[in-house]
Amino acid sequence: PRVLVLNGPNLNLLGTRQPEIYGKETLDDIINRLRTQALMAGWELVALQSNYEGELIDAIHKARLDGTLGIVINPAAYSHTSVALLDALNTFDGKVIEVHLSNIHKREAFRHHSYISLRADGVIAGLGSQGYQAALDAIVATMKNA
Ligand code: DQA
Repeated sequence: PRVLVLNGPNLNLLGTRQPEIYGKETLDDIINRLRTQALMAGWELVALQSNYEGELIDAIHKARLDGTLGIVINPAAYSHTSVALLDALNTFDGKVIEVHLSNIHKREAFRHHSYISLRADGVIAGLGSQGYQAALDAIVATMKNA
């Protein structure tokens, strides 16, 4: 089975971008750890970070046709703006877990609403990079029970 891990704009700067909010780990650190976790569970992990909305949408379109069973997505700022990303996820039949490193609910009001949450089966916010691991666990577990 395959899981897709999508990360939106500015997350390529993790490690140096406002580390007091987003932590000191780089995105590579996080993805490498997740890949190991996936492999241990017998899953293949495909990861994409993009600063372009359309590229994230294209990846979702591909996942919907290539047998990908779940998507872990940190849409970053697109969470709060992108109906297009929501529409794309609504075409995907598998499990979708939304992850935010920071607790968006204790930050500025404009971060409190996420379009993606209207589709997400689960939402994790404020647990830092641990959130990605929990999201992957959840996807692996639901497929086990399916
Ligand atoms: C974020 C929260 C968003 O509000 C912000 O725009 C991000 C990262 C998070 O992981 O905490 O870029 O999704």
